[in-house]
Amino acid sequence: MERLDKVLSNMGIGSRKEVKALVRAGEVSVDGKVVKDFGLQVDPYKSEIVVCGQLVEYREFIYLMLNKPAGFVSATEDKHMRTVAELVPPQYAHFEPFPVGRLDIDTEGLLVMTNDGQLAHRLLSPKYKVPKLYYAQINVEAEEEDIEAFAQGVVLDDGYKTMPAKLEIPSKGEVLVTIHEGKFHQVKRMFESVGKEVIYLKRLSMGGLTLDEDLELGEIRELTPEEMGILEGESR
Ligand code: URA
Repeated sequence: MERLDKVLSNMGIGSRKEVKALVRAGEVSVDGKVVKDFGLQVDPYKSEIVVCGQLVEYREFIYLMLNKPAGFVSATEDKHMRTVAELVPPQYAHFEPFPVGRLDIDTEGLLVMTNDGQLAHRLLSPKYKVPKLYYAQINVEAEEEDIEAFAQGVVLDDGYKTMPAKLEIPSKGEVLVTIHEGKFHQVKRMFESVGKEVIYLKRLSMGGLTLDEDLELGEIRELTPEEMGILEGESR
């Protein structure tokens, strides 16, 4: 059980001061009764709490899918650049979601954001080898021998040999790459190692979770229960 004012402010209804004012004004009901005592003990998961006529749903965690646009860093704060946190709509902002892993500033596509540190940790852990699929445009045509090189693992500029990756070449200058790890600038550096340059990069999926192509660049939505099931299965 928790204090009503604390629960309401945790839900993002307002500051403690603001929610107290709402309670005093008779705008809050619990289990069908208007309450005036903001210190009332409620069970946030069981009590039916209505504020200004709207039922509010209590939950601890939020799971979001962002179609990341170029020009934003995958961080919650940055001194100079715009961050993906700025793309989180106000109704989710109080959960303080952070990006699960990083896409480069110029990379677009699927980015999961959550405040569930455990799930994020598991998804990023090398132990689970969650596959990530990228679409890329490169400056020259990829060749059959690149497919073989990626399958064997390539040596990056710092001497690291990558795990086997899958390269597909659906059309001239366009490729699909599946990697199971997430080294810094990995896809770009893998192409560098075979003498090619990535000019556009977009993440299409992470494990079984696929970017919703109906999401405009910069748009965010909550994951569906099915997508949640996929993510949880991925990190088990
Ligand atoms: N590989 C890269 O080079 N950049 C990304 O943003 C993601 C994977």
